[in-house]
Amino acid sequence: MCGIVAYIGPREAYPIILKGLKRLEYRGYDSSGVALLNKNLQVFKKKGKVAELEDSLVGKDVHAHAGIGHTRWATHGEPSDRNAHPHSSASGRLAMIHNGIIENYTQLKAELTRKGYTFKSDTDTEVLLNFIEDIQKNNNCGTEEAVRIALKRVVGAYVIVLLDRDQPDTVIAARKGSPLVIGIGKGEHFLASDASPIIEYTKEVVYVNDYELAILKADELILKNLGNEKLTPYIQKLDLELAAIEKGGYDHFMIKEIFEQPDTIFDCLRGRLDVTKGTITMAGIQNNIDKLTKANRIIMIACGTSWHAALLAEYVFEELCRIPVEVEYASEFRYRNPVIHPGDVIIAISQSGETADTIVAIEKAKENGAFIMGVVNVVGSSIARISHAGAYTHAGPEIGVASTKAFTAQLTVLTMIALKIAKEKGTIDQSRYIHLLEELHAIPEKVKEVLKLSDSIKRLADKYKDAKDALYLGRGYNFPIALEGALKLKEISYIHAEGYPAAEMKHGPIALVDEHLPVVFVATRDSYYEKIVSNIQEIKARKGKVIAVISKGDDVISKMSDDTMIVPEADELVAPLLSVIPLQLLAYYIGVAKGYDVDKPRNLAKSVTVE
Ligand code: M6R
Repeated sequence: MCGIVAYIGPREAYPIILKGLKRLEYRGYDSSGVALLNKNLQVFKKKGKVAELEDSLVGKDVHAHAGIGHTRWATHGEPSDRNAHPHSSASGRLAMIHNGIIENYTQLKAELTRKGYTFKSDTDTEVLLNFIEDIQKNNNCGTEEAVRIALKRVVGAYVIVLLDRDQPDTVIAARKGSPLVIGIGKGEHFLASDASPIIEYTKEVVYVNDYELAILKADELILKNLGNEKLTPYIQKLDLELAAIEKGGYDHFMIKEIFEQPDTIFDCLRGRLDVTKGTITMAGIQNNIDKLTKANRIIMIACGTSWHAALLAEYVFEELCRIPVEVEYASEFRYRNPVIHPGDVIIAISQSGETADTIVAIEKAKENGAFIMGVVNVVGSSIARISHAGAYTHAGPEIGVASTKAFTAQLTVLTMIALKIAKEKGTIDQSRYIHLLEELHAIPEKVKEVLKLSDSIKRLADKYKDAKDALYLGRGYNFPIALEGALKLKEISYIHAEGYPAAEMKHGPIALVDEHLPVVFVATRDSYYEKIVSNIQEIKARKGKVIAVISKGDDVISKMSDDTMIVPEADELVAPLLSVIPLQLLAYYIGVAKGYDVDKPRNLAKSVTVE
């Protein structure tokens, strides 16, 4: 959460930072701000989206060759001008942006208050900045050293980036637990939370690691640890094109990403699944196949949509591999005292690879001797780097805050991993194995079919957009899809929605059903089909409105439903890859019909880098 950008070099810093902030707005958009270092250190900030900051700066002198910028997702202090970053130190000499949470800030604030400091904002960031300035005064040292001393006292997660009015040729940054990428240009340097603000200027990047400090000048990059030892920056080449992070003619990133799914699933399968040879090639899995086949237990750890992918994977792994699977919310797992044995395998699933709870949960499992497999979308992200092995989902940058294409890519990768383990363990017979490879291979074309429903789902969205609540029900492999459909609706349209196993409905939620309640059934033809038909009847008997995702040719449920969304037939193991898409479209079109900013839903941020 929170996006940061910085620039130092011969170009005008402000336009680079502004463009970068717009690209990072998916990380938070409660307020934004810039600090520009010319002869003076000027700070401009504004509540609201980056466009509001931009408007407020029209006609102002924004000339500078060094600057820092921030787009905020509020943690400490409400979204407001005064809580927006950058913050200025008491003397006005330092300006700082921060992504993360300083957990011991109350203690630091009390110390500073006793010394007479007062604060203009409610943020932990301003406290840390003044703590740095105070150290500098007391130790009579430079900003870099003061930062190092301060960070040894700090508990929590951070990326901080500072400008010092007295050092106009330097930007100082440090990281622990939040992402930070340095772009290396010719006689210039860039800094950002991810590579999207950087790629149009350079493809050479350095990912800063935890407890590292970067001192950037236009033509020099110095990387150090907190012990003041110099480190050799590991320069990597970015494999990312600008087009991948632009809307490409679509109204929103979310709809672009929904429509990309035939390609992203294809990319995920490409070079891995070979139906003719009957093979799945995944080096990260193959190299560790013994650990996986001999695992006593697999624990899947994730949050949000990635957790839904994990839940579905539980069904698939247990069915195909006959290994017990537990699915954990990372945020719960990290604070429990979970029983982990050295023979356990953790599969951590994350689009961003930066979700704070998932990272800490992995670290906890690692300490207990578990083997960690990462299923991650963002190449080079923290989770990719701290996992022992893994598989990328190759869905490309996902900018829309509501996850869509990353989810289907996660399901695709997890299904391939399960098939590979099952084949190796001998828990699947050859004909079923080949059948499932063929079914997976056919998915991208079938997704194209599903996307043709777009216009009819848009009409459906108009019909149901004023609903106050909605219930999403599914059984078996479609239960996690019901959860995911409900999450999408909540996030994008702010309609209260609950996902439930269809059979559990009788144990409570059925009390909600009346003629006003839309009930979305995920009811494709599978081994639970007869059961879900009965559940639909139970809803109809109570006058609920039934909207059903059904398989092509299903005349039974279509007659019982008020509305249907028809998807092609597929094996029940891979059918969720199809049945989720109408639900993504429904949420999207309802959000649009209600006039909401679907790419930046209120209160959310794309990657949750605070606990
Ligand atoms: O980047 P991650 O997959 O680790 O993110 C997990 C969740 O924060 C994420 O899926 C969130 O729930 C999305 N907004 C869902 O659309």
